[in-house]
Amino acid sequence: MPYLSPALNVMIAAARKAGRKLIRDYGEIENLQISMKGPADFVSTADRRTEDMLLEELQRARPHYSFVTEERPAIEGPDKTHRFIIDPIDGTTNFLHGIPHFAISIGLEREGQLVSGVIFNPVTDEMYVAEKGQGAYLNDKRLRVAARTKLNEVIVATGIPFLGRPGHETFAGELAAIMGATAGVRRFGAASLDLAYVAAGRFDGYWERGLHPWDVAAGILLVKEAGGVVTDLDGGAQALEGGHILAANEALHPQILKLLKGAAKS
Ligand code: IPD
Repeated sequence: MPYLSPALNVMIAAARKAGRKLIRDYGEIENLQISMKGPADFVSTADRRTEDMLLEELQRARPHYSFVTEERPAIEGPDKTHRFIIDPIDGTTNFLHGIPHFAISIGLEREGQLVSGVIFNPVTDEMYVAEKGQGAYLNDKRLRVAARTKLNEVIVATGIPFLGRPGHETFAGELAAIMGATAGVRRFGAASLDLAYVAAGRFDGYWERGLHPWDVAAGILLVKEAGGVVTDLDGGAQALEGGHILAANEALHPQILKLLKGAAKS
């Protein structure tokens, strides 16, 4: 990346440090899978510990900033114009099952605008970073969203509501609309990586409902900086806080949105 802001450097260092511990925890999971107790408690502890490490690193460098994290109540710092939005393990269910597809996700907002993002999968050592106006990168490679424009050629990722979550019927309708029109649908289980894969041109699009800001903050910036379009599922600007999202390239975004809106009506 040609220019790394001091804040982005701090975020990358925090993700790398927490990622090293997370890898060791992940190694333990395989042993715990076969125990009667199972790894659930261990994973909650790993989740909280990772969050603690990230908070410690980021607070040391930026003590006045505010924080929104998955595992703890929000922290209002004296500086309310800067806010870190953190998911210590996005893809917790994958982590719990020993599936190597999860990530640390850190977004930074300045005056309500996403300005820096980091998504780090410590297993694959893939570090996705983006800075507003500076582009999106995977390790040192510049990212561009895929150029495909025909629905019948594209792969679209999503998230499926599970036990205890609402919206199963809505999702079934949306899935039917998308799977009938595209080359395939993928459900990999980590929203941040779904967005990172859209930025990298691996997935052509991604939609999901029932999300939290920490699932998508860094990923929204990555897709936009890779030349993509990100909205909520009404086509509006509430992708971060609204709980629903659609990301794709400029040509595909309106086509996928139309299919999803049509499904919601029927
Ligand atoms: C979850 C993952 C998953 C998505 C869920 C999220 P978590 O985040 O991103 O892909 O489908 O909606 O809650 O709980 O693993 O941080």
